[in-house]
Amino acid sequence: CVDISKLTKETGYFTYDSGFTATASCKSAITYIDGDKGVLLYRGYPIEQLSEKSSYVEVAYLLINGERPSAEQLKAFNDELAAEADVDAAVNTLIGSFAKDAHPMAILAAAIAQLSAQYHASLDLSDAEQRRKAAVRLVAKVPTLSALIYRHGKGLPANKPDTSLDYVSRFLKQTFEAADGSYDLNQDVVKALDLLFILHADHEQNASTSTVRLVGSTGANPYASVAAGVTALWGPAHGGANEAVLKMLEEIGNADNVESAVVKAKDKASGFRLMGFGHRVYKNFDPRAKVIGEMTSKVLKQLGVQDPLLDVAVKLEQAALQDEYFVARKLYPNVDFYSGIIYKALQIPTEMFTVMFALGRTSGWVAHWLEQQVDPEMKIGRPRQVYTGHDVRDYQG
Ligand code: ACO
Repeated sequence: CVDISKLTKETGYFTYDSGFTATASCKSAITYIDGDKGVLLYRGYPIEQLSEKSSYVEVAYLLINGERPSAEQLKAFNDELAAEADVDAAVNTLIGSFAKDAHPMAILAAAIAQLSAQYHASLDLSDAEQRRKAAVRLVAKVPTLSALIYRHGKGLPANKPDTSLDYVSRFLKQTFEAADGSYDLNQDVVKALDLLFILHADHEQNASTSTVRLVGSTGANPYASVAAGVTALWGPAHGGANEAVLKMLEEIGNADNVESAVVKAKDKASGFRLMGFGHRVYKNFDPRAKVIGEMTSKVLKQLGVQDPLLDVAVKLEQAALQDEYFVARKLYPNVDFYSGIIYKALQIPTEMFTVMFALGRTSGWVAHWLEQQVDPEMKIGRPRQVYTGHDVRDYQG
């Protein structure tokens, strides 16, 4: 067994692993993935069982605390989330300062950074209870920020979260509330959104969670760390894929064009990839995609929505799964392939899809930030590089 730190100090060698394909940056007890078998466990519980039996709030508690809550603990957690849901009026001013067509992910990152400014001075990171409270506050406030960002984009006035409602209903009501304060809650919509949040809640050291940890490793506060996570999630190779999938399906237009899209995706020179396909870790199937794939037609039926894009998606999946290029590279639909079709059916605009992902992922981000703070082996994240520039040269003249 080679002691890499010694090797580095004594010989100057270190590992070069572009994209961290084979480098663990930390130890973690939160989420387990077996990419070859398509297994995903949160704190040991299979994602399929949590999807069927749990709720997003229970999953958030589980990720943050390590164990499922008792009935009293769950009630107390729900109460705390409700009590912390509202945001300072200054946040509305900030959101209102953005152009109406500004991308919601840019506004979300800024709004969370604003929380960082608000709570920075009073937060003692050495106090475990203050750290926990900050983490819960983020889970409580991100849905409120998301609803306010949606309303700003639509030119609707800012409103308050209804703290008498459960977490997901509160978000839906605040988002879609009419001018007279009414909103007709549909339990099928609540259930579908709750399930999507469960599926998005955590995924070990993905790019955005690794970003949260990297920022957290410097001693920055959790709000700043999560704001950075939001920006990392935005990219189309990561959470932004859900938005990109819908745009791609719209561009393909109908099932007759599926074959040519597959041909284009195989041509590297085209610069086009099948969005919602492929994953760094899953090389068999993404268990979240399986759950979402099964629920998509059910949700559309429940809501009475007929979306021709579902046909395009199904045909595209079938065509890719039978194609040698995709088979050889083990490229399967990932969590983002069908989620956009459901969000669309729930009347969430395309540019808000990645915000929905961020909302669900916040519990995972804060769980990782909390875990990192008590990790005795935690060091500042500081990768090395392989220098490819000039040798030393004189400044002439
Ligand atoms: N369409 C066509 N070809 C693909 C795709 C795709 N979606 N994904 C990967 N490939 C090909 C690559 O061109 C490469 O081919 P090669 O070996 O002949 O050069 C091979 O498959 C491996 O691809 P990499 O990019 O090296 O794989 P990596 O693990 O770095 O990337 C990623 C994974 C980013 C998810 C990639 O599959 C991708 O870009 N997918 C589309 C975007 C997407 O859906 N992202 C969401 C990921 S899940 C999430 O973050 C929630």
